[in-house]
Amino acid sequence: MCGIVGAVAQRNVTPILIEGLRRLEYRGYDSAGVAVVGAQGELQLTRAVGKVAQLDESLEQQPNEGRTGIAHTRWATHGVPAERNSHPHVSGDIAVVHNGIIENHEELRAELQAKGYVFASETDTEVVAHLVFEQMKDGAGLRAAMLAVLPRLHGAYALAVVAGRESQRMLLARKGSPLVIGVGIGEHFAASDALALLPVTNRFVYLEEGDIAEIRTGGYQIVDAQGQVAQRRLHVSSLSADAVDKGTYRHFMQKEIFEQPTALANTLEGRLAGERVLEACLGPKAADLLARVKRVRLVACGTSSHAGMVARYWFEQIAKVPCQVELASEFRYRDPVIEPDTLFITISQSGETADTLEALRHAKGKDIAASLVICNAPESSLVRESDIALMTHAGPERSVASTKAFTTQLMALALVMLLLARRNGLSAEEERRHVKSLESVARVVEAVLQQDRQLQKLAERLMHKNHALFLGRGAMSPVAMEGALKLKEISYIHAEAYAAGELKHGPLALVDEHMPVIAVAPNDELLEKVKSNLQEVAARGGELIVFADREAGFKDAPGVTVIGMPHADELIDPIVYTIPMQLLAYHVAVLRGTDVDQPRNLAKSVTVE
Ligand code: G6P
Repeated sequence: MCGIVGAVAQRNVTPILIEGLRRLEYRGYDSAGVAVVGAQGELQLTRAVGKVAQLDESLEQQPNEGRTGIAHTRWATHGVPAERNSHPHVSGDIAVVHNGIIENHEELRAELQAKGYVFASETDTEVVAHLVFEQMKDGAGLRAAMLAVLPRLHGAYALAVVAGRESQRMLLARKGSPLVIGVGIGEHFAASDALALLPVTNRFVYLEEGDIAEIRTGGYQIVDAQGQVAQRRLHVSSLSADAVDKGTYRHFMQKEIFEQPTALANTLEGRLAGERVLEACLGPKAADLLARVKRVRLVACGTSSHAGMVARYWFEQIAKVPCQVELASEFRYRDPVIEPDTLFITISQSGETADTLEALRHAKGKDIAASLVICNAPESSLVRESDIALMTHAGPERSVASTKAFTTQLMALALVMLLLARRNGLSAEEERRHVKSLESVARVVEAVLQQDRQLQKLAERLMHKNHALFLGRGAMSPVAMEGALKLKEISYIHAEAYAAGELKHGPLALVDEHMPVIAVAPNDELLEKVKSNLQEVAARGGELIVFADREAGFKDAPGVTVIGMPHADELIDPIVYTIPMQLLAYHVAVLRGTDVDQPRNLAKSVTVE
């Protein structure tokens, strides 16, 4: 994922920018660059394909020195990874870094070419540099130039722009991609993620949608979307500069569970414009592809396969696209019939799971429309070998038991589903409703995380059990499977999941006072059915724990514990109800004293068969 760092200071900013880029490395990128404005107003530009270390090497040979500068890590979308496509992009004395996608870049490019501008890259970003230059050529200052250019840009952006002739300032703009100002003493900074600036400040001002800001050594000013000067709250971060460690958390798993609101927001970053999903998030040929796709095949392993199982409900229910899901380890050894115009989707946190990779290779030998990977590791084999990659942007996941990777996979799958749904006639109104619901996820998940204490208490009741049964219906049945998997893999309690309707076809025979039954029951159309399944359990003396919508009318009763959940939209329920499953498993494992982050016999990335 692309990253931005900027600084206006009274010292050489190059080391600050490079350290900031290093801190954004975990997001994944394929090239990096930095531009600083020298003492005479001259731009010094250094870019390199590969790691920040390579950029640093180039800088050692030819140092940059200046008090104002911008830097960027790029994950290729428009144009291959190459030095010419790396940011910053330059036009005369203007340098620009950009996260997001400028949708109307082709039109703007043609207009600029007609005026004689020569493009050095294939990126969408370069138009911004030339547009700003064009304004300043006619005498505008940097600020006025930005105000004139921004309304012309369609799509999503976080932008940081500097001009050699106005070396004391930097202009920032945010629409659909985050940007934060770092407040220092006699110096100010900018970044796409506050983490990048922790070595220089812990005071942050987050830009809001449509904000345009100017930073100088002595201060900053923000103008909102209506052109009014705006005051935004100053946040003092408690994160330490080494936040990439466990920080104050006891385990990586715990930290990763709590990172989900941010991770989920990151998955959406730059992929929405207004209340619509941008087709460009599936690459430059997305429109052709989406027009062709008639069905979807999802293949994955472990937790990632559960994400696929949830998405099947969405693809068929909302997008009206036939969808099949299969375990990669099975798929690769079958001779599956794949119908033409199938979008073949693999899902993988690591991008290196051997079975999933082989499944992809197997599918590529068949007549598929395209292969798409939903992945968290940008430089992985699955990303390299797939036609299209949609990154989850969850940040590094260290705990073997997957948490934030799963919920962000669901988010990414929901985006793909909505793009297909639009092609299949989903109304703009419906799409808006779903997008709003996706945008609300981070907030709802945050609220569920507040229930941590309650789940810790509940864990005390489960810690001595040897078995547990998880139940759910519809899209919540894979959520029950994920809950059972979390519990078994880290606490070593035998846990099984069933679609609630299957209860009386077998597992009911297991139910007695030693078998806790954990049910996920949001207030959806299957609620009444789940209620009657649960009565079957209660009637047999089983201990019931129900995660239910507070509005669903479930009440505590002898043997029945109800954990009230916030009311959320049906689309996001699978994400929301996964959170307490993770927390419950985590606390049970901690109480049982297992090795939470590295459970016995398991590996984070299974690169062998
Ligand atoms: C291993 C991990 C799981 C993961 C599965 C698939 O079993 O321990 O957490 O769900 O592999 O991994 P992937 O990286 O392809 O999502």
